Amino acid sequence: MSDLVPTPDTIARLRDEFTAALAGAAGDRDLQAVRDHYLARKGGVVAALMKAVATAAPDDRPALGRLANELKTDVESRLAERRAAIESARPPVGAIDVTLPGRAPRLGHRHPLTVVRDRMEAIFARMGFSIVEGPEIEDEWHCFDALNMPSEHPARDMQDTLYLASPVKGETDGADDVRTLLRTHTSSMQIRYMQAHRPPIRIVVPGRVYRRDDLDLTHTPMFTQMEGLVVGEAISLADLKGTLVAFAREMFGAASSVRFRPSFFPYTEPSAEVDVSCWQCDGAGCPMCKKTGWLEIGGCGMVHPAVFEAVGYDAERYTGFAWGVGIERVAILRHKVNDIRLFFENDLRFLEQFPY
Ligand code: DAH
Repeated sequence: MSDLVPTPDTIARLRDEFTAALAGAAGDRDLQAVRDHYLARKGGVVAALMKAVATAAPDDRPALGRLANELKTDVESRLAERRAAIESARPPVGAIDVTLPGRAPRLGHRHPLTVVRDRMEAIFARMGFSIVEGPEIEDEWHCFDALNMPSEHPARDMQDTLYLASPVKGETDGADDVRTLLRTHTSSMQIRYMQAHRPPIRIVVPGRVYRRDDLDLTHTPMFTQMEGLVVGEAISLADLKGTLVAFAREMFGAASSVRFRPSFFPYTEPSAEVDVSCWQCDGAGCPMCKKTGWLEIGGCGMVHPAVFEAVGYDAERYTGFAWGVGIERVAILRHKVNDIRLFFENDLRFLEQFPY
């Protein structure tokens, strides 16, 4: 700056340069650099200007001195102004930076049993079934007596059924106390629904059931069933089979077929176990179906007249069919799960394999 020749023009040029430099300063650091360049005591532009003015011709000195001082004040005040502006534009400490990309929430998904249950419900809903639920705490009458299971029936045994401590008043005429229990099957809801509705009836009842079983690969003390009940006039075994075939085709594939194996349930006559053809081997025989070509999914039958009598239906006029399917059983077969306990342990490594 030693060759700086102070004239009004030079001072005007310095102001223009300062204006441009200030305009280009984006943040604290730039601003500090501009300040140092113009205002540093040693080597700063303003200091050099002052020095040059001091050596100017004595006649010019007062006017040049005034201009130089004006420039100095101008530079100082505009730097301060700019610093304040940058300061006030700064977000307060701890403020949220809304320009940062968001953190995506981890999305959960349905439990595999819920997926299977929803799918089953959708299939039956399309066939015109209503989906109803019922209490898990039941009394003996709804769970057993009304379903034609007499008091000496083995399923009522303390070994198999989880009884509760407090009995309730019975629904039968005698109104004796009846024991309460955790329902051992969704069939109890057949009774409750028929007590509250007249035919025609077309319902499915999904829900939890409880049995006094020890945990192993195929048993848990709690599992889920889906009950079905259809009651009307002239309902036949053909309707039962047609309904379950339609279900199997939607659930397990269009080539599926259903087979009934004669069985016994006190609340149906005739009764059958329901098998669906193995979709793994198309009935040829594989490890999944233990080389039989068939997979068992539940029980079914034509509603026993004694059941209609228990709920006050005219057993001469009405007929119906019912079935009960294990939802875990369907899920196990569909997804080739080899241990029923996996459904209830909530181990994410298992659950995350079903991201539907
Ligand atoms: N309640 C039976 C069980 O828990 C399943 C069942 C069989 C339900 C036949 C029915 C039926 O409605 O008709 O194993």
